[in-house]
Amino acid sequence: MHRRGLLSSLALVLLPLQACTSLRAGRKLREFELVTMTGDAQIDSTKAPVPVWTYGGSVPGPQLRVRQGDRIRVAVSNRLSQPTTVHWHGLRVPNAMDGVPHLTQHPIAPGGRHVYEFDVPDAGTYWYHSHFQSSEQLDRGLYGTVIVEERDPIPVDRDLTWVLDDWRITPAGRISETFGNAHDMAHAGRIGNVVTVNGSVHEEFSVRAGERLRMRLVNAANARIFALAFHGHRPLVIAIDGQPVEPHEPAGGRVVIAPGMRCDLLLDAAGRPGERHEVHDLFYPRDRYVLMQFVYDQQAPLPRRSAAIVSLPANTVPEPDLVNAGTHEIVFEGGMMGTLHQALLDGKPTDMRGMLGRGKAWAVNGLVSDGHEMKPMLELQRGRSYRLRMRNETRWHHPIHLHGHTFRVLGRNAKPTEHREWQDTVLMSPGEQVEIAFVADNPGDWMFHCHILEHQDGGMMSVLRVS
Ligand code: C2O
Ligand code: CU
Repeated sequence: MHRRGLLSSLALVLLPLQACTSLRAGRKLREFELVTMTGDAQIDSTKAPVPVWTYGGSVPGPQLRVRQGDRIRVAVSNRLSQPTTVHWHGLRVPNAMDGVPHLTQHPIAPGGRHVYEFDVPDAGTYWYHSHFQSSEQLDRGLYGTVIVEERDPIPVDRDLTWVLDDWRITPAGRISETFGNAHDMAHAGRIGNVVTVNGSVHEEFSVRAGERLRMRLVNAANARIFALAFHGHRPLVIAIDGQPVEPHEPAGGRVVIAPGMRCDLLLDAAGRPGERHEVHDLFYPRDRYVLMQFVYDQQAPLPRRSAAIVSLPANTVPEPDLVNAGTHEIVFEGGMMGTLHQALLDGKPTDMRGMLGRGKAWAVNGLVSDGHEMKPMLELQRGRSYRLRMRNETRWHHPIHLHGHTFRVLGRNAKPTEHREWQDTVLMSPGEQVEIAFVADNPGDWMFHCHILEHQDGGMMSVLRVS
């Protein structure tokens, strides 16, 4: 036995309290309870447990599994010493359910309780996380997954979820409390020194030869981007951010997944009994490491599934009307080594020094969000289609997330994308231009921000109003 445990299946210790009532037309009301509380996580089995914040005692929190078309009701009780809220990342919920403090709801006070309830129109892999002081609360462990099953799930031998995260652990074995420091904020964000899958360091993942896996990857890290290469395997990307995509091998053989994003892979276990194959993370050239080893057990291979590739049925996201779409340019600026000289903070032109003095370093269309006043940057007409031409004029990567909507990624650097992916979080490389389009069909004030949470704190955040 290896010194660390075998990750043989998704380690979901706690099942949430769950009830299920039938609604009309075969739809179900699924009820869950989530309790925010402190806990201990066995992040590394060779070391002492680490004090964390959790939903229901575990990191990740309980996986909420429902079926497409169901209605979900989640009662959240807050047993932490800080207020909190829950955001349903990627789910197209009504604005009042979106979980953004001060914008869509009052924070849930310590000791308080709040009920979220909404329909789930789309199948796919989603996640929930705190949206209150996110850079601290997510980092301490406040996240979990929502899996919305297709009405006819595709045939696989195992459907599993890997929630990727990293932690900044001090020599004393605790989470470093350097939240919100200026260096992380103005550079790549808070990159940790311990990488976990489903809340613990795993070195081995056991597989059986011949099995077909659906692997749902979720990046819950504050800032770390992953580029996973599965040696000995040829996974196909079948969904991004929950939304089906034409099954394809990832570009360059690397599955790139930035904070906030999800990626569903179809992976045939092509190795032979007893073999080992490594999964590498190659994103940061100077910090490559082995995330996991696939360890084939000794059982005889399962009969091969048909080679015919299964694509997922389309979801219900409306197709943007590109001909009549309104167009907006959006420029992201700031950060270290950038060219941003000044931007508007609290309505006042402020230079980079002044911004840094206020814990800010980023601007969206010349505006630095102070995190309190959230006046809309754009007003969109309900039901109309919009194209956003976004330019990353910084030296840093930014995964840009829009709440309440799912957009098509139409082009990168003026070239059409091959798959016109539906996404809710799109990674922009330094200097890159990305064009997205969507139907503004969900009324309300919606956050639009970088999902590197230190960048969000540092001003890279704005609001789009749909009315
Ligand atoms: Cu996943 Cu505004 O967040
Ligand atoms: Cu960013």
